[in-house]
Amino acid sequence: MSIALSPAWNALAVHREALACTHLRELFAGDPDRVRSLSLSFDGIHFDFSKQRLNANTLKLLLELAEAAKVGEWTGRMFNGDSINASEDRAVLHVALRRPGGLDCRLGCPPFPRDDFDVMPEVLATRARMADFADRLRAGQCFGHSGVAIRSVVNIGIGGSDLGPKMLGHALRAYAHPTLAVHYVSNVDGAQLATLLPTLDPCSTLFIVASKTFTTQETLLNAQSARDWLVANLVDAAAVASHFVAVTAHAERAIEFGIRPALIFPLWDWVGGRFSLWSAVGLALMIRIGPAAFGDLLKGATRMDEHFRSAPFACNLPVVMALVGIWNSNFLGAATHAVLPYSDSLAYLPAYLQQLEMESNGKSVGKDGAPLSYTTAPVLWGELGNNGQHAFFQLLHQGGQLVPCDFIAAARADFPLPGHQEVLLANCFAQSAALAFGKTEPEVRAELAAGGAMRPEVFSALLPQKLFAGNQPSSTVLLKQLDPQTLGSLLALYEHKVFVQGLIWGVNSFDQWGVELGKALAQQILPAFDDPMLAGMLDASTLGLMAFSKVGSDSI
Ligand code: F6P
Repeated sequence: MSIALSPAWNALAVHREALACTHLRELFAGDPDRVRSLSLSFDGIHFDFSKQRLNANTLKLLLELAEAAKVGEWTGRMFNGDSINASEDRAVLHVALRRPGGLDCRLGCPPFPRDDFDVMPEVLATRARMADFADRLRAGQCFGHSGVAIRSVVNIGIGGSDLGPKMLGHALRAYAHPTLAVHYVSNVDGAQLATLLPTLDPCSTLFIVASKTFTTQETLLNAQSARDWLVANLVDAAAVASHFVAVTAHAERAIEFGIRPALIFPLWDWVGGRFSLWSAVGLALMIRIGPAAFGDLLKGATRMDEHFRSAPFACNLPVVMALVGIWNSNFLGAATHAVLPYSDSLAYLPAYLQQLEMESNGKSVGKDGAPLSYTTAPVLWGELGNNGQHAFFQLLHQGGQLVPCDFIAAARADFPLPGHQEVLLANCFAQSAALAFGKTEPEVRAELAAGGAMRPEVFSALLPQKLFAGNQPSSTVLLKQLDPQTLGSLLALYEHKVFVQGLIWGVNSFDQWGVELGKALAQQILPAFDDPMLAGMLDASTLGLMAFSKVGSDSI
């Protein structure tokens, strides 16, 4: 049965009408205990959702919705290794990748997910190989073809094989190796690789080709171009063996590319690309921050896993965060969701969350193939909050559209400068307060009057311009500090939030059929550039664009 037909969903729809006319100002005024009762903390993460347009009753009804969607049962199935990714007939076990067992596989750990299906030996063995490789490279003990120590690493990958390690490499730059450079190349636009290569010394550069499938067009073309550059510069095709590493679930394809089996790090079909940063896909990150910090990242994630698995729904961070999102999307009608980090080091977090949330839950057909009668993932977007204040925040404050926001900040600065952190946090807290409470007509009138005499027509023209309706919902996620463990927890929190929302919406959060059509069409268009017969089979717009791109502006 569709969740939209459940008593819990209906109760929420009725409740929405009852709450529709209540402004956040009234919700705060009417409940002195609001902030305490609508905040949760776990392991250095404080989640304040008191500025959401909901009350205790909303939360109670949302928790009933989670029960109706059998969130607890499905969570158990995920941790049990059941094939909950039904359309691909796969288990979903990224949680295994961060389970303890030490970076040394000989320490061992209990079977997971279960005795008859234990993935931990290969997880721990791979983790140990990664740590050994990263340690040697960081110590200057990893040598290129001409005997020079590797000093630059280039991760070639896209989507889940790029966004997570890149985002965390920046977020944890305070932990970075002092002299090793780690770069990321994802875009098939040659501009990215072509401008990077001249800055590198081929003798001391290592390429990591990260691709679960090892068939992704962009990644393979970038890897081939990097290989051509290396061979041309070192004047020896055998150099590839010392300068290329692969991370893939298809070792045979990496070997065919020319990568030595000893330098291929595995991942498995039970890890989705967007959930893979904890696996060998995180190799570039481990090289940058070191195995110990990488271990702390895993520890943070695994602590959040245990919290998610065991905490009652009412105080379960991922569950509550997911329910707040459902309320905003399905009951208040928000079409988008903004992620606004107030930490320069979290600059790439919105892009990472875009893939996590929109590739997982941007679906309109349920697991059973039936069309859904409600919307699923909102359009997630975002930018560094402080920069956004001087750009797009105008629309958030006065544009009249409902845009729920996640403000994300760290209490302690990772790169302190006198006075900066206080100004940063003051801005962060001010923006969420302004969005929630706005500025009323009496307040604006008083402000204008205090500014001195003004002609009445100017006064009445200015008054509406200066009003802030407020009632714009937001949550604030305040981290103790930007350290590996806290970030590990934060990312696991968002992962499980996505999982819970997918369960409520009834979609499979672990497949991504929607990305296939564009890939297939690109494969049809590519040969058509040189073959008029093939071009004749394309649509008129594509033909026109191809003609324009070939001969310049005259043909159109
Ligand atoms: O096209 C989408 C996608 O399959 C993502 O899900 C994935 O993270 C990305 O491409 C890269 O895939 P791969 O790691 O197989 O190169």
